Amino acid sequence: MKDYPKADKEILLLSIWLHDIGHALSNHADHHIKSEEEARRFLKTIKLNSKKIEKVAHCVRAHRCRDVKPETIEAKILAAADSASHFTDGCYMDMAMSGIKKLALEKLDRDYRDVGIFPKLKKEITPIYKAWKNLIKVYPN
Ligand SMILES: [Fe+2]
Repeated sequence: MKDYPKADKEILLLSIWLHDIGHALSNHADHHIKSEEEARRFLKTIKLNSKKIEKVAHCVRAHRCRDVKPETIEAKILAAADSASHFTDGCYMDMAMSGIKKLALEKLDRDYRDVGIFPKLKKEITPIYKAWKNLIKVYPN
């Protein structure tokens, strides 16, 4: 946040809290769509103004950089931070241990692509990316 002082903290925090809420309500592949729907529903119940709801909804929907790409600074921060978090949360190892190495490598590459929203972050992550890539490749099938 300190590198991006114009980012709206309220929008970003609401987006962080709500971006994966759809996991509890749908399958993984579509969770960004369900999360957006649930975020909109919840934010109306707390009477957040409609402009802010739209901003949070965009962040939530775009956090996976799939059908909607992050356009605002808050959406870019969320998408990059979410991807960066995977480099330390063990998800690639969980996937490799579950016998889906190919998917782990694909997710690793998508995450590495998405942290590239911020080139400085991508540079910092690069050694960890290379380490994961090497580890997953040699992990037994
Ligand atoms: Fe997610």
